Amino acid sequence: MEKVQAITPEFRNFMQIIADIASIAENLAYKKNIAEECQQAGFLVSAYGMEEYKKFAQAEQLHAILKNGQPVAWSIVYSPIHPASEDDAGTFYIRKQFGNVPIVKQIGTARGHEGQGYSRSLYQRVIDKYPDLPIFAAIVEEPKNERSEGFHSKLGFKKCAVFSHPDGKKRGIWKRLPTGGLHRQYVRI
Ligand SMILES: CC(C)(COP(=O)(O)OP(=O)(O)OC[C@H]1O[C@@H](n2cnc3c(N)ncnc32)[C@H](O)[C@@H]1OP(=O)(O)O)[C@@H](O)C(=O)NCCC(=O)NCCS
Repeated sequence: MEKVQAITPEFRNFMQIIADIASIAENLAYKKNIAEECQQAGFLVSAYGMEEYKKFAQAEQLHAILKNGQPVAWSIVYSPIHPASEDDAGTFYIRKQFGNVPIVKQIGTARGHEGQGYSRSLYQRVIDKYPDLPIFAAIVEEPKNERSEGFHSKLGFKKCAVFSHPDGKKRGIWKRLPTGGLHRQYVRI
């Protein structure tokens, strides 16, 4: 299995990798005309553009798995020290409710590479890095992302809240309890 790598500006072919991730994300974005297919295969509520992926990379929030030098899966993670902006309502809500927890903001595997453990590996990195903290993710409720809910359940997540996002699409807030160690006092579990 290819390893999870931090994608930083020092990376060889940095801009090409950013462009590839933006293009895969665009491909995974929800499409009304194939709604049922999206629900089964999983989808992103919306994709970021290259500029935003670049910013996440500069802030050390972007990780990816590369196959023959090209990304096949990626994640964006807010570590407990990354500030959550009020513009990002879902992440801001999780921080306000649950404290300085790690939040997986976005995760995706390119179509044609699903079911090979890539996104599980990306999560495993977060789990290994924060063994004593609960990990959070937000999953849109309507339209239902069946694949994402199944995937997160398999990894040990449970829905713990529902957030009324200002974009009008409710988000389920999913939490994975820590695997070991003591919970830090400033985190409300
Ligand atoms: C959801 C998604 C990230 C899963 O990625 P993936 O690389 O195919 O997942 P993995 O191969 O790592 O699967 C991990 C585990 O989840 C399980 N799983 C995946 N989909 C599942 C489902 N619908 N129901 C139950 N389990 C499921 C797999 O069986 C696997 O378990 P195993 O390792 O014990 O066999 C991927 O389908 C995707 O990118 N979807 C589009 C974007 C998206 O939905 N992102 C999440 C937005 S909140």
